[in-house]
Amino acid sequence: MAKIPRETVDAVRERTDIAEVIERHVALKRRGRNLVGLCPFHQEKTPSFNVIPDKAIFHCFGCQTGGDVFKFLMLLEGLSFGEAVRELASAAGVEIQERELTPAELRAHRKRATLFDVLEAASQFFEAQLWTRPEGAAAREYLQRRQMTEETSRKGRLGWAPGGWTNLIDHMHGQGYRPEQLADAGLARPRQSGSGFYDTLRERLVIPIRDQRGRTIAFGGRLLEGDGPKYLNTPETRLYQKSKVLFGLDQARGPIQQRGRVLIVEGYFDVLSLHQAGFGEAVATCGTALTPDHLERIRRLAKDVILLMDADEAGLRAAERALPAFVDAGIQPWRLTLPGAKDPDDLVREGGPEALEAALGTREPLFEWVVGRKLDGYGASAMSRERVLDEVLVLLRKLRDPSLASRVARRLGIQEATVLERLRSTPAPAATADEEAEPVVPTWRPHRDVVHLLWLLVHRYDRVADLVSRVGTHLLDGHAPVRNAVVRLVAGEPVAALEDPDPEVQRTLLAVAARDSLYEEAGSEVAVVEILARLAKPLRSAQLATVTQQVQDLERQGDADALREAIQRKLALISEERQLESALKRADIEAAMAVLASPDDDTS
Ligand code: UTP
Ligand code: MN
Repeated sequence: MAKIPRETVDAVRERTDIAEVIERHVALKRRGRNLVGLCPFHQEKTPSFNVIPDKAIFHCFGCQTGGDVFKFLMLLEGLSFGEAVRELASAAGVEIQERELTPAELRAHRKRATLFDVLEAASQFFEAQLWTRPEGAAAREYLQRRQMTEETSRKGRLGWAPGGWTNLIDHMHGQGYRPEQLADAGLARPRQSGSGFYDTLRERLVIPIRDQRGRTIAFGGRLLEGDGPKYLNTPETRLYQKSKVLFGLDQARGPIQQRGRVLIVEGYFDVLSLHQAGFGEAVATCGTALTPDHLERIRRLAKDVILLMDADEAGLRAAERALPAFVDAGIQPWRLTLPGAKDPDDLVREGGPEALEAALGTREPLFEWVVGRKLDGYGASAMSRERVLDEVLVLLRKLRDPSLASRVARRLGIQEATVLERLRSTPAPAATADEEAEPVVPTWRPHRDVVHLLWLLVHRYDRVADLVSRVGTHLLDGHAPVRNAVVRLVAGEPVAALEDPDPEVQRTLLAVAARDSLYEEAGSEVAVVEILARLAKPLRSAQLATVTQQVQDLERQGDADALREAIQRKLALISEERQLESALKRADIEAAMAVLASPDDDTS
């Protein structure tokens, strides 16, 4: 049976009265805006099963089961998702196309196509070019030369973007897609002179980049030979943000969990080649540094995180620069140098999986490697050892791992007691009192301010969404697992359509949607601004701590100009803090926003 398009699913959900469907199975009584009854999914005597018609969801506060109307039928009647949608479609007056569409219907449908549909259609075109066209021959030979099997190439859905300027545009036009839609998907660019568009990727081997759910969101394009950049990638779009995507994660998720480890490599080809060699747990960034978002995606999947950066200077520097992000994520990663300064792809191609497995045995903790690298850079004098310790102290204290302090001491050739003493005497930046009490690697638990923020976004969207978007979601750095949900709510997606991969987040979303009253309409703006201010607090304290440290350092160094500047920054921060406090006291939303939405801490 064909896959039902997402718009169709959304339309069925929108036009179905969830209460009416559930009432066929469960006796419900009205309570406020919700309907309540005895939960059909667990034994209970007092009703904790809620149906929230406004939000098109159900949620049981007793057993935490919840979801949209399709989920209900799937759980209660054992239907598949497709069956549940089909079951409700005709009553909702939505037609599900089971037959081939006529060209006119197709065009009408394609007009409403999502970016996902556009990218999928393009991907099929590129694949067909690679496998069935004479023009694809050079790319097929290239893959053969690199010892990529057909199976690997097909599984990775590699393709060929032909030469010429509008091959993709023309083909897609025949399928009913407009060039503007291709441009939105990053696949076409407007011509500089005159009107019209041209294909972004031409005469390149294309490598689809997929999201965690396996949907294509972008393409990398590799040059086979000749002049030009080695890779040309489709640009960032609504669906594709490099800072959030790990190439290969959709296929690597299972192996990562099974093996309890993830291999982070640099290139698309390294991932393809490692997967082929049996290392299904490999992923790569799309040519960028590792971000907190990336790490959040893997942190919960595996304990062992191993960096396999190239052995050139760029790769070494990338490994070093990644350390703070890891520390912030509470991860202590490994790194390793591949023998013969090869990249992982070369290594497995030449030496087979055994060569990589052997190399993995020589991995070392990234932290100590960074300490060693700094030491090599500064020289081994007592002063440079002090300097290295200075530089890693903040990271060391964030990790709160006593064995690490002693390992670092050994690596630096200084007394462990000295390291511990310095740890004690250096003030902790950023952390607030209650964060201090948290375990070393906190998993996300619903936090009051975050829960209230979600509630306001779900129930008071018109009043608060704009304020939240002006401040930005970097405030949620300490609550990374909910950030995605918040971004999607701010963008206006209905809560029923969110299916968060994190069960705790999903449960919280449903509980929040089911909660009837928390803030009055009138008080919502003030409430959200207060919440945002509290969430911003740790960031603001961290900024202040950093500047304070800078002032101290500069005082010692005696650089008068820099010192004056640092003091000014510090005073500005303090004065902003006062402004914010006073604005909140007066419930002056705009004055508070002027501080909160100031772009000085752009962490994206
Ligand atoms: P590499 O040059 O190591 O690429 O760049 P690779 O994947 O190993 O490619 P081969 O083996 O030479 O074919 C690492 C990554 O950096 C990004 C890509 O994501 C690439 O996979 N990159 C590199 C670009 O985006 N553009 C470039 O021009 C080069
Ligand atoms: Mn390579």
